[in-house]
Amino acid sequence: MIGQKLISLSVVDSTNNYTAKLHSRDEIDHGAVILAENQLNGRGQRGTEWQSEPGNNLTFSFLLTEINLSVLDQFRLNQLASIAIINTLDNYDIDAYIKWPNDIYVGREKIAGMLIENSIGSEGIKSSIIGIGLNVNQVDFGELSATSLKSQTGKDYNLHEVLFSFIFNFNDLFQKLDTPQILLNEYLNKLIGVKSNVAFSYNGMQYIGNVKGIDKIGRITLTADGLEHGPFSLKEISFVI
Ligand code: BTN
Repeated sequence: MIGQKLISLSVVDSTNNYTAKLHSRDEIDHGAVILAENQLNGRGQRGTEWQSEPGNNLTFSFLLTEINLSVLDQFRLNQLASIAIINTLDNYDIDAYIKWPNDIYVGREKIAGMLIENSIGSEGIKSSIIGIGLNVNQVDFGELSATSLKSQTGKDYNLHEVLFSFIFNFNDLFQKLDTPQILLNEYLNKLIGVKSNVAFSYNGMQYIGNVKGIDKIGRITLTADGLEHGPFSLKEISFVI
């Protein structure tokens, strides 16, 4: 279970950093959720920055220590968190999709992202810090191709309510970590390029095709014009949405 302990901060550098700090001092246990109104150094994937209007969106992280996963199975955590966000948005009648590997989109605009930082021991994954940025009440994203719950529906949302919906959905899915096939099917069901065409590029060439599958370690294989491409890991390919 996550969410039995919730720490709310008004300002922090990054909730992932803060969660790691509390964990290293043994001050939090499995399931603790750290929420911040404002991050001064919100971190995105691949060294990018996560921008979020203070007080308008959800920026939070949580700690998992009671997980029994080998290093090769760590992509299941990305699947789990992605589906939990999709289900949360579905609770608010928003139909969202996953852009491989774990960006959450509504149409062509990004609504949520995650930064998962695992610590590996000899027995597999010792702990995982899952940081989520979910756009809720922000409507002006400047140059960014981004959206929010409010941009989609015109309504204002209570941030705690949306957070509790996420926590509920995540807890509901958590047991599926032990049933990888079910988890994978739910992930594929919402992955862009599975039921529709997707444009992708690698090695300087562009293709339009479909996702054929995701392997155990999260690499993607696609087909285009009857030919198979991949498996690709993150740095090798980009999608045009
Ligand atoms: C991405 O899509 O690039 C990942 C974005 C992850 C942002 C969240 S906000 C809460 C947590 N703290 C951080 O510094 N990053 C994650």
